[in-house]
Formats: sequence, structure tokens, C-alpha cells
Amino acid sequence: LRERGYDVHASDIAPRPAPSQCSEEVPWHSLDVTDLDAVDALFTQIRPHRVYHLAAILSARGEEIPQRTYEVNQSGTYNVLETCRRLEVSRVIFTSTIAVFGPGLPETVGDEVPLAPTTMYGVTKVAGELLGDYYRRRFGVDFRAVRFPGLISASLPGGGTSDYALFMYVDGVRTGRYEAFCRADTRIPLMYMPDGIRALVELSEAPQSALRRSTYNIAAFSPTAEEIAQSVGTALPDADISFAPDAHRQSILDSWPCALDDSNAREDWGWTPRYSLSQMTEDLVPKIRALIEQNPDAFDRD
Ligand code: SER
Repeated sequence: LRERGYDVHASDIAPRPAPSQCSEEVPWHSLDVTDLDAVDALFTQIRPHRVYHLAAILSARGEEIPQRTYEVNQSGTYNVLETCRRLEVSRVIFTSTIAVFGPGLPETVGDEVPLAPTTMYGVTKVAGELLGDYYRRRFGVDFRAVRFPGLISASLPGGGTSDYALFMYVDGVRTGRYEAFCRADTRIPLMYMPDGIRALVELSEAPQSALRRSTYNIAAFSPTAEEIAQSVGTALPDADISFAPDAHRQSILDSWPCALDDSNAREDWGWTPRYSLSQMTEDLVPKIRALIEQNPDAFDRD
């Protein structure tokens, strides 16, 4: 966003990230999204034109603390939308997920497939999509959302069920071995973070007249866990990746799509991914290695 000339403010309940992840020139605001007054006070101070609402607790962590997940994901989204309505913020970008879908899906899942999530994360993301669509129709808030695949980036993931994919890379570099908590034939849609970020920026810049819906599936690649392990092996030939499925997390993964149909996003706002699995592997492994060299605890999750 800064490269495109926007004046960017960032916020989180977490402390400001290291300068390598968030430029010191970006003003940082400590914010608890569950606190409506605090959201209102910050937005009143900054008066943003666009809000990218990303705050959420993901699926695996969400099943450990479903009540807190409801507050953050459900009340948090309400607080952001309500504040945007009141202060006439023109556009809100929301991140939904493959976790809005549930068991019994077709091989390739389009935008209109019924939503039947099995996790609190998925339930609250469905509600976020619907609430955003309501604010769009009822109050004219220009709400736009993508349904992200599992995202992979050179940073420590936070409690997602798709995290096995990144852990193969991280532990492949760190220790040379990883035991994945899923079956080798598990297949879900995945995406490299640079594509995910670009999708949000491009959707936020699309002319409103081109958008026929408020929430869009977006896709990149859909490898099996075994295929990810093989791709890791091309960059880290000595990595030993094995599979020991955890029943609970496997059942969540089995309830998600194998592949997404993103033709509406392609047609309406020109979405197209740039990274394949092998291109991601090539880009990601040196980045993880560099991060671990700078900070050996960067991916410590013990
Ligand atoms: N990455 C998310 C998760 O695993 C899916 O949207 O919860």
C-alpha cells in the first residue's frame, strides 16, 4: 500500500512488529478490536478512507478458545463495520477463508456452494461475510472480501489448521525433520503470502461497478501434503517429512475444499495468482533461512 502511495496506519492488540516486518515510518496503534469505544476512538482520530480488517483467531486456536474467538472474530467485525458506518469510511476489506465451507463438498468449490463450517473460526467468518453484505446493502458501506486459501509466509503462523504446510518448510530448515499432523493425501487450497497481499490491494482498488458480489473465492494451488513435502525436498534434499495424523485437526482439514473455483474473481477484478508451489518453495526457503540466521528463535513454537 505504501508503494502505491497510500498513507498507511497499522494496528493490532500485539506489540509493534520488528522493523523488518513493519516499517518504522508506519504509525502503529495498539488496539483491541473487541472494544467498540477503542475502535471508534482510533478511527475518529485517523479518519481512514479504507479499512483492511484482518484481526481474527484462526481455526485450530479457535477450537481451544471458542468464546474468545467469537468475541474477536464476530464482535470485532461488528465493531469495525459499525464504526465504519458511523464515520462514513467508504470501503472495508475483509478476509474470509476456506473454513467457511463444511463437509460434503464438490471436487472444486465455487462461490455459491452452501456454507456449513464446523469450526468457530468458520462460523464467525460466514457471519462476517453476511454482516458485511448487510452493511453494504443497508448502509452503503463498500464491503469487499476474499476467501483466502491457507496462507504461507516467512513468518510464524498463528494457530491455523493449515500450518502443517509452513511447518514443513520451517522445520525442514531448522531441524531437518517434521512430523505433519495430517495424512499425506490431505489436499487443501494454499497460497503464498505475496499473492494474498496483492489480492487484497487489487480487490480494494477495483471499480465498484465491476463487482457483482461482495465476497470472492481466490485460488493459487492445491497440492496434497505429500506434494508439499516433495517440493520442500527439492530445496532441502535432506529434510525428513513424515505424517502422523491428529484426528481432530484431520477432520477439520477433511471438511475444507480440495480446490476453489475463483472464476468470479478472475472475471470481475482480474485476479490471477503469480506463485505456483515450486515458485513459492524457491522464494520461501532462503527467506526462512535468513530469518533463522538473524534470529534463531524466530520460529520457536515450543
Ligand atoms: N489458515 C486458516 C486456518 O488454518 C484457514 O483459513 O485456520
